[in-house]
Amino acid sequence: MTVKSHKGLAGISAGKTAISSVEASGDGLFYRGYNIQDLATHSRFEAVAYLLIYGELPTATQLSHYCEKLQSLRALPDALKTLLELLPAAANPMDVLRTACSALGCIEAEKNRQQQADIADRLMASFASMLLYWHHFHTAGKRIETHTDDSSIAAHFLHLLHGEAANEQHCRALDASLILYAEHEFNASTFAARVTTATLSDFYSAITTAIGTLRGPLHGGANEAAMDLIAQFKHPAEAESGLLQMLADKQLIMGFGHRVYQHGDPRSAVIKQWAKKLAEDANDMALFEISERIEQVMQREKGMFANLDFYSASTYHLCGIPKPFFTPLFVIARTSGWAAHIIEQRSDNRLIRPTAEYIGPAPQAYPGNE
Ligand code: COA
Repeated sequence: MTVKSHKGLAGISAGKTAISSVEASGDGLFYRGYNIQDLATHSRFEAVAYLLIYGELPTATQLSHYCEKLQSLRALPDALKTLLELLPAAANPMDVLRTACSALGCIEAEKNRQQQADIADRLMASFASMLLYWHHFHTAGKRIETHTDDSSIAAHFLHLLHGEAANEQHCRALDASLILYAEHEFNASTFAARVTTATLSDFYSAITTAIGTLRGPLHGGANEAAMDLIAQFKHPAEAESGLLQMLADKQLIMGFGHRVYQHGDPRSAVIKQWAKKLAEDANDMALFEISERIEQVMQREKGMFANLDFYSASTYHLCGIPKPFFTPLFVIARTSGWAAHIIEQRSDNRLIRPTAEYIGPAPQAYPGNE
């Protein structure tokens, strides 16, 4: 019997999860029952990662121990450093992270399930080290020390990037962004990680799969594509006319639209506030004003809203982060969500193997075989 297919699996529930809920009708997002806006306002990324991976918000003592643990996991094995030095200087940073993740899976392979949360922590703690070791080696010939005393992943990333302790507001903005990016139910990369996990493959393979899936501009790569969009305009009026032309040409406007949300992305308001604050602090409103005009035109012309990626672009730019590192930051954050889903999939596993609606030729005789 042929079952009708659903292109892109739109509207299909592919399983149960207790990790997060995306409420399309109310346009809300909850991590284990906690509203994303509360988490972004009152929590820090490490506490949210703990919530996702270990199942509950940490106590103050648990959080302090967890931050110390993550801090202790920033060093890279020599073999991985050698590999990072051998990768091309012109490589896409997402390819660097995908390769480095896979390589760490050879060097520190998963031996048993008891290690799964430790591997998640190791990857979250060391992705910034991998990326920025590769970056500084290839741009300045420097073999950087990847350990810093910074207590947060956000501060560690900015410190390694800029070579000095980061501005407090930049750390807070990046931390909030990591919280917003941490988890999003059965999005494409998480689903890919669950498919790999369901074959009983190892933890690193599932994360490597997810990184490759996140890389595309319809998913994680949209924050870099949104930056390309915004950066091409010099002022709001130019953005308005440029956007109208792009819409007339039926172009896809990056950083807008969503498969699940119908009225707005609940994460967007939070990151927009940070984009505005950082612009005011820097006394440089240009990108923010251009972004706001694009948002207004999209609302007016298409009834479409900005998703998380749109204002993440100017937020990251104002933190002095180069565009090619935008999607890798998404990897660092989403590793917490991917890890939670890998652990959940393993706890009640069944191979994920759908069927397809066949639309090819009917059975036919092989040529010359009467
Ligand atoms: N700009 C312009 N038009 C868009 C659009 C965008 N960003 N997103 C969707 N549309 C239009 C489509 O062209 C389509 O129009 P049509 O019915 O006239 O053909 C309609 O809206 C439905 O879009 P569809 O591609 O079917 O939606 P989807 O659920 O498959 O895709 C996204 C969702 C997120 C992939 C899509 O909105 C998109 O590509 N956005 C830009 C990339 C992005 O920001 N990704 C990050 C997501 S968090």
